Amino acid sequence: MTRYLATEADQLALGEDLARMLSGRSGVVHLRGELGAGKTTLVRGLLRGLGYSGTVRSPTYTLIEPYEIGGERIYHLDLYRLADPEELEYLGLRDLLDGEALLLVEWPERGAGVLPAPRLDILIEHAPPGRRIRLSPCPAWQEGFDDSLVQQCEPHHIIL
Ligand SMILES: Nc1ncnc2c1ncn2[C@@H]1O[C@H](COP(=O)(O)OP(=O)(O)OP(=O)(O)O)[C@@H](O)[C@H]1O
Ligand SMILES: [Mg+2]
Repeated sequence: MTRYLATEADQLALGEDLARMLSGRSGVVHLRGELGAGKTTLVRGLLRGLGYSGTVRSPTYTLIEPYEIGGERIYHLDLYRLADPEELEYLGLRDLLDGEALLLVEWPERGAGVLPAPRLDILIEHAPPGRRIRLSPCPAWQEGFDDSLVQQCEPHHIIL
């Protein structure tokens, strides 16, 4: 199942809804979609929904932006510029995967083989003038997700 998001404001609002579903959870979230699909916009809404009021910069060049919001640690990654998945080791990925932090990862394909399978896979597609979005939470995360948005976890998304 998918939902149509006609404007950037809708995209931000869905991010805020997602904050309620993801609050207190840890693990990896994959954000998939072409350049300009609205991945960062969704993260912006999500962080706002968690209570963050500062600026959310795209981690295009830093690759990773850390947040601490109400005792929760969130890392926003953009792997577009990753030359090799092995570079994730230098970013300290192992330390981030400590079972407590939430990792929101744009361009997870670039980390294939090193980045763990996601607990939630989000796919955003261009559908002019808006976007179409689909959420695939793994079984352990299905409870609490809005049914109208959710699709079964795809077989290749194996939970760790
Ligand atoms: N639902 C929507 N409808 C229309 N425009 C949108 C929607 N969501 C986001 N946008 C717009 O799309 C543009 C790109 O958004 P954004 O930077 O979030 O994309 P991205 O997927 O993170 O891209 P990149 O792969 O380059 O990091 C922004 O101008 C944003 O306002
Ligand atoms: Mg982005």
